[in-house]
Amino acid sequence: MADVSIAVCPGSFDPITLGHLDVVTRAAALFDQVVVGVAVNTGKRPLLDGPTRVRLAEKAVAGLPNVRVERVPGLLVDFCREIGATALVKGLRNGADYDGELPMALMNRHLTGVETVFLPADRAVIHIASSLVKDVARYGGEIDDLVPDGVADAVRAALAERTSGAGGETR
Ligand code: PNS
Repeated sequence: MADVSIAVCPGSFDPITLGHLDVVTRAAALFDQVVVGVAVNTGKRPLLDGPTRVRLAEKAVAGLPNVRVERVPGLLVDFCREIGATALVKGLRNGADYDGELPMALMNRHLTGVETVFLPADRAVIHIASSLVKDVARYGGEIDDLVPDGVADAVRAALAERTSGAGGETR
């Protein structure tokens, strides 16, 4: 297909939040197709398993016709090449985000030339981070208005399962 712009919104999505959804929605207005890439961050041990993160992301973007969700099994740049994506889109909330994202953006461009587009976080969701959502939920706080439908229940269920048995995640 000629001249179709494809961008990937990559992340751990553990879980997807309203902040992520804002970035994906804005990316969908800039590119013909957007793929939410649920990837592995070797620095984190997720609370939610891969299929759950994908399912929750799919539900969240169901109303966006030019957005789909896929697992990214390995290197993000390989995935971009496979699907013909020429850009990555990430949200930035603050300087710490920028410090974390800049080396990845430069490495990805070094590897294959794929560019990263940074979108400033919307003020309405700038305080939302997956790690904080999990922390608030862990101590019984209200997270339903921070995440898309269905996510809060899945987080609470995963935390309950963790508490009753297996190991713990890291951020
Ligand atoms: O939501 P996160 O955890 O900040 O997202 C980071 C993520 C998953 C996008 C990053 O770790 C990644 O790209 N992982 C895939 C493997 C890869 O390509 N690593 C090299 C990055 S320069």
